[in-house]
Amino acid sequence: MTTLADFHVKVWRHTYQDFAPAEAYTVLNEQYRGKQWKKKLSANDSSQVVLIAEIDSRTVGSGAAGGPSESIFDGRGEIKFLYVDPDFKRRGIGRELLAHLAIHLRRMRYQGAALSVVKGNEAAIAFYEALNGRPAGEYIDPGPVWRSQNIVFAWDDVASLIS
Ligand SMILES: CC(C)(COP(=O)(O)OP(=O)(O)OC[C@H]1O[C@@H](n2cnc3c(N)ncnc32)[C@H](O)[C@@H]1OP(=O)(O)O)[C@@H](O)C(=O)NCCC(=O)NCCS
Repeated sequence: MTTLADFHVKVWRHTYQDFAPAEAYTVLNEQYRGKQWKKKLSANDSSQVVLIAEIDSRTVGSGAAGGPSESIFDGRGEIKFLYVDPDFKRRGIGRELLAHLAIHLRRMRYQGAALSVVKGNEAAIAFYEALNGRPAGEYIDPGPVWRSQNIVFAWDDVASLIS
């Protein structure tokens, strides 16, 4: 069975292979992600949600949402780790995951939603633009492994993501 960490590494490497620094590519492996997910999933923090999309028991998508981790999100709920298996793209899974994450944020009483996307990840940028995300600034990921340049996308009304 594919674990969330395995899925994360697979999609992350597929997405960033052409522009992540070699060190990040090596360090952000299944073991690293496994620890990260274990910590997140055992945090007992009801403001956070992690969703997994499955088809025939196969993990084909993931996403998380919760309180904002950076001030640039301006108090909006934050979407993280939105990943769809490369073999299952353009089937509406990303859109549906985002809608369910938005439902969670609305339940947590966030009016808006925001997320960051690495500069150069044009497919994801096109996806957020198609869903009417508004560019709302830039920031550098604090790392520690990859201090990537990021664009922030925001939705002032979280309900607009819920179809
Ligand atoms: C970005 C991502 C989550 C989109 O998920 P998806 O399931 O493929 O997207 P959907 O099928 O829900 O697409 C919804 C709409 O977004 C737009 N869109 C999605 N991918 C696009 C692309 N590569 N180029 C242009 N527009 C795109 C389209 O308008 C699409 O509607 P359509 O297929 O009817 O034309 C997915 O491609 C992914 O996991 N990428 C790799 C990981 C990643 O970059 N995650 C984001 C990190 S911030």
